[in-house]
Amino acid sequence: MIRIRTLEQYQTEYQKSVNDPEGFWAEQAESFRWHTKWTQVLDWNFRQPDIKWFVDAKTNITENCLDRHLPQRANQIAFYWEPNDPKEKQVEITYQQLFDDVCRFTNVLKKKGVRKGDRVCIYMPMIPELAVALLACARIGAIHSVVFAGFSANALAGRIQDCSCCMVLTSDGAYRGAKDIPVKQVVDEAIAECPTVKNVIVCKRTQTPVVMKPGRDTFWHEELVDVSTNSPAESVGSEDELFILYTSGSTGKPKGVVHSCGGYMVYAQYTFQNVFQYNEGEVFWCTADIGWITGHSYIVYGPLLAGATSVMFEGVPTFPDCGRFWQIVDKYKVNIFYTAPTAIRALEAAGLDFVMPYKLDSLRVLGSVGEPINVEAWEWYNKNIGKEKCPIVDTWWQTETGGILISPLAGITETKPGFATLPLPGVQPVLVDEKGQIIEGNGVEGNLCIRFPWPSIIRTTYGDHERCRQNYFATYADLYFTGDGCRRDEDGYYRITGRVDDVINVSGHRIGTAEVESAINMHVDVVESAVVGYPHDIKGQGIYAYIICVNERADVEQLRKEILAEVTKIIGPIAKPDKIQVVRGLPKTRSGKIMRRILRKVAEGELSNLGDTSTLLDPAVVDEIVAGALK
Ligand code: WTA
Repeated sequence: MIRIRTLEQYQTEYQKSVNDPEGFWAEQAESFRWHTKWTQVLDWNFRQPDIKWFVDAKTNITENCLDRHLPQRANQIAFYWEPNDPKEKQVEITYQQLFDDVCRFTNVLKKKGVRKGDRVCIYMPMIPELAVALLACARIGAIHSVVFAGFSANALAGRIQDCSCCMVLTSDGAYRGAKDIPVKQVVDEAIAECPTVKNVIVCKRTQTPVVMKPGRDTFWHEELVDVSTNSPAESVGSEDELFILYTSGSTGKPKGVVHSCGGYMVYAQYTFQNVFQYNEGEVFWCTADIGWITGHSYIVYGPLLAGATSVMFEGVPTFPDCGRFWQIVDKYKVNIFYTAPTAIRALEAAGLDFVMPYKLDSLRVLGSVGEPINVEAWEWYNKNIGKEKCPIVDTWWQTETGGILISPLAGITETKPGFATLPLPGVQPVLVDEKGQIIEGNGVEGNLCIRFPWPSIIRTTYGDHERCRQNYFATYADLYFTGDGCRRDEDGYYRITGRVDDVINVSGHRIGTAEVESAINMHVDVVESAVVGYPHDIKGQGIYAYIICVNERADVEQLRKEILAEVTKIIGPIAKPDKIQVVRGLPKTRSGKIMRRILRKVAEGELSNLGDTSTLLDPAVVDEIVAGALK
């Protein structure tokens, strides 16, 4: 696998990847362990879509994450695990230990009857067993579906049902900052409605008392008694499914994005090595939760494939105080630090007193992911954390892309605040106008599409291929549509401007407005609602909900609380609206479509210049909404 070291080399590699994509990716894939080589590198069309990388090849990603490294790295640390409470002892896990733990747990899964192709739901906090769980599934060819442990029972149930999981891996509870979360209780509530779940394995973390259903529930540590570490990796097809990860779209329920084994593996390592420029012996830390794609690709798979040492952190950036990230950086002498703009903004707001006590002199590269980074946050990060000597890689990508697509290569690409800069080799971005015409040249703006497959592109949405086609491949013929708006400046640098669909990005979490609306509408007093995003200083975007009630309620504050509780119950706390405005009507066109443009403007505080409202059924509604707008 090529490690790019200079800008000229980047340009040559990029050209190669466009002129001969198959040759290019075959070269990158050489260094992996394959049980059977491919008969063809790529077979694709975006129309159905049908995309296959490393056709007919067989491998196992965990053999490449673990077995492959043991001769040189058995005693190297794979993970430093840092607990939520800084007073608790950290755990160091070597490649050998991780290998043993994974193999042992693989045998537990097999004993429970889990087979290749079965779906296993993982609903766990950020403890080492979480990484073990993913890898153990992958080792036997079972498909993992990790659900972020902040989602509600209802949201979890929906995800388990959608892909008919046979098993749930979970914990008794979770520590998150000052809070203890009753994780197992959420699982119990969820699987009351999930008949496909035959077994639940519970890892003890908080010692919170839990109810164990005989015949279904067992404890992790008890399962491991007398289990062998002998567990050869199953041979899985390059195009066999590796995992499902649910994510929000602009319509309907969250969809299960499916990634397959071979291409994802090659791309995860390629991007990890090249974007972050990881060097042997360095310590990498991605602060994401494994429940999101960033954690899948850059806590678990990418770093392990590259044989890296990384930090896995259980807690939150603000506990016990806002210096926690920086304390951890110093503690483990972190060289590469990868976080989200929302965290940077929150820590910036907390003030420099929380940064000053720490040296931060081990840092060499900083990364950003999940949402557009505003110039102010970029500058603060650069100055106060990177001390103006660490390149910042602003990495643009999505759950559907599996890995980073547009980003500087650390120390190689010249950066520009707010810009994800240039596409990685293998990635061919184009900007299109509303009519689907490709916009050529520089100094232009449009909808961001990709015109050629890269190895870790989404293969399907679980159980509903047509939805995948509709969502990503039907808007513009022969292009993958990202849902993002983008500017390409005079230098050909890309700057992502944000979603152009009805998805909002709250603290780096993707939330579909339709999902929030349907949760709000569950409240007995709500007839209809409309949800939009608005700029928020810390979260990037906040959630603004307009609601119509059946009965006029005098106790608006109480109603607000009930709605927040409803949303928390149906989706989870991350989807709680920041603002709720009770309205008597919504701006609808004569055909009944809500004019969200107007609602967005009002939410942004733009109360005049609302544009043409003449096509509205009742333009007076707008005046009322403006009059009642929340600050
Ligand atoms: C946004 C997270 C600007 C974008 C990896 C995308 C970004 C969505 C950036 C995907 C970035 C992610 N600059 N916007 N560097 N990275 N986004 O699926 O709108 O959770 O479509 O994947 O986040 O979010 P997802």
